[in-house]
Amino acid sequence: MKRGYSESSSTSVGPPQSRFKANPEEDSNFLEDESTKIFARKVADHYSARTNQTLEEREASPIIHLKKLNNWIKSVLIQLYARRGDAVLDLACGKGGDLIKWDKAKIGYYVGIDIAEGSIEDCRTRYNGDADHHQRRKKFTFPARLICGDCYEVRLDKALADDAPFDICSCQFALHYSWSTEARARRALANVSALLRPGGTFIGTMPDANVIIKKLREAEGLFFGNSVYWIRFDEEFSEKKFKSSSPFGIKYKFHLEDAVDCPEWIVPFHVFKSLVEEYDMELIFVKNSHEFVHEYMKRPEYVELMRRLGALGDGNQDQSTLSQDEWEVAYLYLSFVLRKRGQPDRTQTNSRRDKGKMHISKEDVLNIEH
Ligand SMILES: C[S@@+](CC[C@H](N)C(=O)[O-])C[C@H]1O[C@@H](n2cnc3c(N)ncnc32)[C@H](O)[C@@H]1O
Repeated sequence: MKRGYSESSSTSVGPPQSRFKANPEEDSNFLEDESTKIFARKVADHYSARTNQTLEEREASPIIHLKKLNNWIKSVLIQLYARRGDAVLDLACGKGGDLIKWDKAKIGYYVGIDIAEGSIEDCRTRYNGDADHHQRRKKFTFPARLICGDCYEVRLDKALADDAPFDICSCQFALHYSWSTEARARRALANVSALLRPGGTFIGTMPDANVIIKKLREAEGLFFGNSVYWIRFDEEFSEKKFKSSSPFGIKYKFHLEDAVDCPEWIVPFHVFKSLVEEYDMELIFVKNSHEFVHEYMKRPEYVELMRRLGALGDGNQDQSTLSQDEWEVAYLYLSFVLRKRGQPDRTQTNSRRDKGKMHISKEDVLNIEH
């Protein structure tokens, strides 16, 4: 059955009825709502508190090559799917780490949303060029808008009614934070589906549930990792079995040196795939990061990009290559590309980008509450 927001509906549409059985041990909806909010805040506070690093601090990071590799993966996805003049929705945009990538793709309009106030503020200063004290780069060429809010809770079709439809939506290293409950996972996908134009593209990266569960099962206890990361599941998962009737709320604690330290949720890919279909999107591809690297390193332009970003070094004299432990972390992630069903409307012109600004003041940042 097709899901989504009805265009005529003026009342708030709750996430549609589940195909998955309710958990009989669940205390009450209220309790679930409260703990869900607490976890969402925990995630927001974690990212808000992460301060901008200087170039020297960044280069000294124990996962610097992993960060560069992830930037390469995001750059390849953007180069593959973004077109000149595109209107882009960056869900969970963080500090705006992808702004330069979008600029290189010559997009026409950018809207970034994140739950973490601190990250949105960093994104704002980065967009304005205030963060770059050396003024080494030109100003961004596209107008932009920034929004602070929980994009897995709020109906974004309303908040962004005048900005939509978007040609491309990106959610990098963040969609798994929606998988704490079925309602949030559905809200995330309903938002993307409602805001993308027919034929529009949804690109993203998120943890690869198959790899994480495999590693959990191979581990002696509920804890595994290496010198740069660890993952710990709660005792409730001591049997290491997961019911297909409850594919949401499978929480673990993730620690990645110099990057992440907060609760995350398993996204069983087959459930994700069937859910996106309910929201009128089809899977174009999914690739674990290892496979992604092998595949796109066959193309000279992306080899050159990898060399420029410096993630894998030159494999010869260059010692600055990714460590085995960083490469193992890369294996924990996958990339996906989805397409919104329908034929693109070639007659529609994009007038909404005058909502964006070329310089964003603090007052321009919209705060949206549930
Ligand atoms: C690992 S960071 C990735 C940031 C950015 N996409 C990137 O690739 O550089 C995850 C981001 O997800 C954001 N996030 C988590 N839950 C969110 C939510 N419910 N709504 C909006 N953003 C959320 C965090 O605040 C954080 O900025």
